[in-house]
Amino acid sequence: MPMNKIKTQDKTPALEVEDLSFTYNPDFNYKNPVLFGISFKLFPGDFLGVVGESGSGKSTLVRIMSGLLKATSGAVLVKGMEISRFLKKDKSNRFKISATFQSPEDQLFLETVYKDIAFGPYNMGLSHEETKKRVINAINFVGLDKSFLDQGIFELSGGEKRKVAIAGIIAIGPEILILDEPTAGLDYNSSQIILSNMKKYCKTRGSIFVLVSHNLKEIAKYTNKALVLRNGKQVFFGNTSELLKLSTLEKLKLPLPDPADILVQLKKIGYNVEVNDIFSTKEASEKVYELLGHNDGKNVKLL
Ligand SMILES: Nc1ncnc2c1ncn2[C@@H]1O[C@H](COP(=O)(O)OP(=O)(O)OP(=O)(O)O)[C@@H](O)[C@H]1O
Ligand SMILES: [Mg+2]
Repeated sequence: MPMNKIKTQDKTPALEVEDLSFTYNPDFNYKNPVLFGISFKLFPGDFLGVVGESGSGKSTLVRIMSGLLKATSGAVLVKGMEISRFLKKDKSNRFKISATFQSPEDQLFLETVYKDIAFGPYNMGLSHEETKKRVINAINFVGLDKSFLDQGIFELSGGEKRKVAIAGIIAIGPEILILDEPTAGLDYNSSQIILSNMKKYCKTRGSIFVLVSHNLKEIAKYTNKALVLRNGKQVFFGNTSELLKLSTLEKLKLPLPDPADILVQLKKIGYNVEVNDIFSTKEASEKVYELLGHNDGKNVKLL
């Protein structure tokens, strides 16, 4: 067996969810079980995409993974330690896991953008200078101009509030970052800037990102691991490349991203085209180009 394989298997996961179930209001008649037996492991540098229909339990899961809700059974382990113990063990551990929530309004509460982004670093006891450096780095990270720093929170648009909420956790510099639909309502360019910076952050720091998103194209482009929830159950966890196989998507009844869907539709009307693992517009265009007969007619035939 190759050495690196042994090494990978020996590593303690940075974050592990172990047979986790959750019920809202467990002691009342109107108890509501919403998560059932969720289990997966993440290692440093992993970027996890979480997908699932509305109400499938994504936000509940990420609240448990950030330590805000406690699992009804099973556990979340951070570096092998149960999450509530990990958070209490050392004051600095509180800053190692950070989350943004579906509604940015739940997160922003100080008067100006600067004060809101600086809140985390100040609480960590960082100097004025270091805090300022982190605030500027964080506002760049989310692609907002520095002139926003003096602006009042209530003067911001919905998308700007979302960016400030993300900047607030970037300024803390956590090891585990959990973002619940961070790009919902953001324009395409803003989303790309934030997601590509997240991917870089993950890689360079060996941190973990958990991204809840309804956009399979985003998941395909930025994440290396994926989790799919349906009615509170885990129907897929594995490499994103595995999820994106046409056969897996069809089995899970997930909607195909447009480039793949176009090829599937072409196949259905009789064109002889290989459609597996095609998710980018560029790859799909190349297939269509071949179909048009621009490959010297060697491999692809029109039926
Ligand atoms: N505070 C609560 N008390 C009781 N039930 C709740 C509570 N919050 C959420 N639920 C229920 O838990 C289930 C999962 O909700 P959750 O918010 O985790 O879904 P989601 O996958 O994030 O959905 P969306 O894509 O709409 O954000 C839903 O059926 C919801 O009604
Ligand atoms: Mg949600």
